Parts: sequence; structure tokens; C-alpha cells
Amino acid sequence: MKLFLDTADVAVIKDMLPTGMVDGVTTNPSLIAKSGRNIAEVIAEICALVEGPISAEAVATDFETMVKEGDKLAAIAPNVVVKLPLTWDGLRATRTFADKGIRTNVTLCFSTAQALLAAKAGATFVSPFVGRLDDHGANGIELLEDIRVLYDVHGFETQILAASLRHPGHVSAAAIAGADAATLPADTFKALVKHPLTDKGLDAFLADWGKTGQSIL
Ligand code: E4P
Repeated sequence: MKLFLDTADVAVIKDMLPTGMVDGVTTNPSLIAKSGRNIAEVIAEICALVEGPISAEAVATDFETMVKEGDKLAAIAPNVVVKLPLTWDGLRATRTFADKGIRTNVTLCFSTAQALLAAKAGATFVSPFVGRLDDHGANGIELLEDIRVLYDVHGFETQILAASLRHPGHVSAAAIAGADAATLPADTFKALVKHPLTDKGLDAFLADWGKTGQSIL
């Protein structure tokens, strides 16, 4: 499963890149607003830093303007993926971009019916929002499982990009459910490596090693 960073903060991306685990980046209008930067500038900078897919979201709600915005975003760099909302206009724009070979990420997916439409529209990625669905009293991981079955049964190639992940448990459950990729904020990304028994074990090993007086180098 690919791991994407869910941020428009270049400093955060630079901090995480040396891990070798950042396969791409997703942004949304809220994250761009939080960065306080011009969308074209920040997306160009992120695309130059990270080779993998970088999602940049159109903000228009009508088909014609969405396509104009998507064209402009896609022209920033070859690794831009145009992010579009799961609406009829967004799906129509998804088909337009698919037909001209531009990759898309259909976002704000909350049901299997919506995921079916995204795949039929030719989306490269579909983003089911796990955490927001859990907040709503539903089960976001079950949605991922159901979409996996749906796509496998019908042979759809759209990749499932688990989004709105709030903690490491969400990430591992998304992987087990068969998500192709997961996007997570830096805090959750960093928390993936943590386990109290790892810390405790390392402390004990180092304490015992200190008693030997040896040095490996
Ligand atoms: C990514 O594509 C989504 O915009 C993001 O994961 C949403 O996360 P949130 O529900 O924590 O805002």
C-alpha cells in the first residue's frame, strides 16, 4: 500500500521525505488555505520535491469551470493528479480528464454507490473519507472493504486511496482492507513507527550494552 502525506506544508514534506516512505502527497482547499500560500506555487514546489502523484483540487462546482481549473492544475507538473468532488459535474470532469490521459482523484466518497460511479467515470483514485464517516456514526473501514470487493468483482482499475485517516489503527485496517494507498497527516504518519514495547526494549538493550564498555566502531 502506498503512503501519501496529506498536507500542503512544504516544511512537513521535507521533514518526512528522508524516511523514504512518502509515495505522494494529497492536498485539499482547506490544507491550501492553512498553508497561506498561492496554490500554483505550493503545488509546483511539492511536485518538484516528490516524484509520486500530487493531488491538487479544483474548487469550481460546475463542469466547465472545473475542467478549466483542472487543466491549469495539471499543467503545473506531470505528477499532478486533478482532485474532483463526487458530484455529477465532478464525475463528468473526471471522464473528460480520463479521456485525455490526465489522472484524477475523486474525493469526498462516502458510499459504495459513489465509488462505483467514480470507477465508471474513469477515476485514477477514489478517496473514501474513513474518519469523517466514523464521526458520522458509520464505519469507514467497512466502506473500504466493500469498495475493494466491488472493484475486484467488476475488474475496475480505479485505486482506492483511503483518506481522512486519524490514527495508526485506521492505516493498518485500511491496508488489511486492501486499499491501494492511504493518505495521512504527518502526526499520524510519524505515529506509525511507535510502539511502547519497542521503546522499552531499546532502552533495556542500550542499558545492558552500556555495562559492557564496548564500542562497535
Ligand atoms: C484527503 O484527500 C482528504 O482531503 C483528507 O484526508 C481529509 O481529512 P480530514 O477528514 O481529516 O479533513
